[in-house]
Amino acid sequence: MIAGGAGIMLTGLTRTEAQTTAPVAPRAFAGQHQIKPLPFDPARLKGISEKLIRSHHENNYSGAVRALNAVEQRLDAMMKDKDLPAYVYGDLKREELVRTGSVALHEIYFANLGGDGKAAGEALEAIKKSFGSYEQWEAEFKRTGNALSGGSGWVIFALNFHTGELHNYWSWDHMHNAPFSRPLLAMDMYEHAYHMDYGAAAAKYVDAFMQNVNWEEVNHRYTSAQKAATALRE
Ligand SMILES: [Fe+2]
Repeated sequence: MIAGGAGIMLTGLTRTEAQTTAPVAPRAFAGQHQIKPLPFDPARLKGISEKLIRSHHENNYSGAVRALNAVEQRLDAMMKDKDLPAYVYGDLKREELVRTGSVALHEIYFANLGGDGKAAGEALEAIKKSFGSYEQWEAEFKRTGNALSGGSGWVIFALNFHTGELHNYWSWDHMHNAPFSRPLLAMDMYEHAYHMDYGAAAAKYVDAFMQNVNWEEVNHRYTSAQKAATALRE
């Protein structure tokens, strides 16, 4: 008999005791990222269906969180293998970057949806200064999105801390980012973001996206990014 009422004996400890005394992985390898719920009612978006948003959140975003957790824990285990070739480790480090980008950009994306699409506030004033007019900014943001249709990627309107400028950045995948920039508005251009509703007609999704932008959130990001930019210059 190896099993007892208090649990299986593991080198002198019951399983319960072994679990509570097991070493905790350092934070970088903990794999404890939590899935954030949708910050708006998915039934209320204009031109983007609840079914699509729920699928996007539950499969693509939540899947990325689970994968990132698994990758971190696997990295921890692989570091304990002193004979592991570095290039094998490198493959998983690439996955870490892919999943980290996917988690961050999806959380930014969902948080900048659920609004009325009407630009206002300090971000709007900054857009006018940097792009000449709101219409010019929007035309470039949308054109950049349409340039990614049929493929994958993100359009990221960002404050670049290095140059101090606002730009709409083209991003081919979760790992493409303008170095040292804070995303203020992110638009997912992976097919999973629109194909269920629009098929290959990505431009219709881009139009619908603009009608649901949460400018309150964009303004919050812009003002906090400006404070960070000022602090970085000091
Ligand atoms: Fe996505």
